[in-house]
Amino acid sequence: MKYKVDMSNLPKHIAIIMDGNGRWAKKYLMRRAAGHRAGATALRRLVEQMNADGFAVLTVYAFSTENWKRDTQEVSDLMGLMHEYIQQYINDAKKNNVRMRTIGDLSRLEPSLQDKIAHLADLTRNHDGLLLNIAINYGGRDEIVRAAGKLARDARQGKVDLDGLDEDAFAAYLDTSSLPDPDLIIRTSGEMRLSNFLLWQAAYAELVSMDVLWPDFKIDHLYQAVAQYQQRKRRFGGRS
Ligand code: IPE
Ligand code: IPE
Ligand code: MG
Repeated sequence: MKYKVDMSNLPKHIAIIMDGNGRWAKKYLMRRAAGHRAGATALRRLVEQMNADGFAVLTVYAFSTENWKRDTQEVSDLMGLMHEYIQQYINDAKKNNVRMRTIGDLSRLEPSLQDKIAHLADLTRNHDGLLLNIAINYGGRDEIVRAAGKLARDARQGKVDLDGLDEDAFAAYLDTSSLPDPDLIIRTSGEMRLSNFLLWQAAYAELVSMDVLWPDFKIDHLYQAVAQYQQRKRRFGGRS
């Protein structure tokens, strides 16, 4: 390993904006779908290695609430890949201790994909390895609006004390309830924006943008980002 990483002090929750599949495909004169397929393979390999290395939580941005704007062929290619990806984890669930869950509004997905996701989450519920959290039809603003809606419905039924509402009580309505906030957010392909990812949860995350297209991302890139993270001084608004 080229980078100095303190393995006893890994970030608990790493989140990745997996960007650059299209540019990767273009670079190799392939269709965008081939880029997405290579991206899914890169994720599978990374998850296996992060699990082996003892990482706790990985959230990945797979499909945003804005990605429906892409042409129908690309959207259907992406949905097809998700079916395949989830199915492979279902097939391997017994050989593998990764726990799988999702964030995002799944209600807009095909019912058969929703069923597969629920099945996989159930199959792996008691697994004690890496928690792989996949953001599908996820948008930070959408998540916050849905949380506010749920809170309002609970308030109408007298189930919540609005006078006592604080950040923790609100966060319990988010899709990420029960997850720690991300410590480190990595974006590949050199872009420097959140694109509606984890808006609430990113409040004090350390951001690392890397000049690598997602399908080329290897565990070594992850350690490079972790090494950068470990050199940062996190102050959370206080003084170091
Ligand atoms: C990321 O790659 C995958 C998704 C957003 C679904 P892109 O498809 O955005 O790749 P670029 O940004 O066009 O290179
Ligand atoms: C963000 O990438 C969403 C995912 C990686 C799933 P995009 O490629 O959709 O983001 P923009 O359009 O460049 O902001
Ligand atoms: Mg992109």
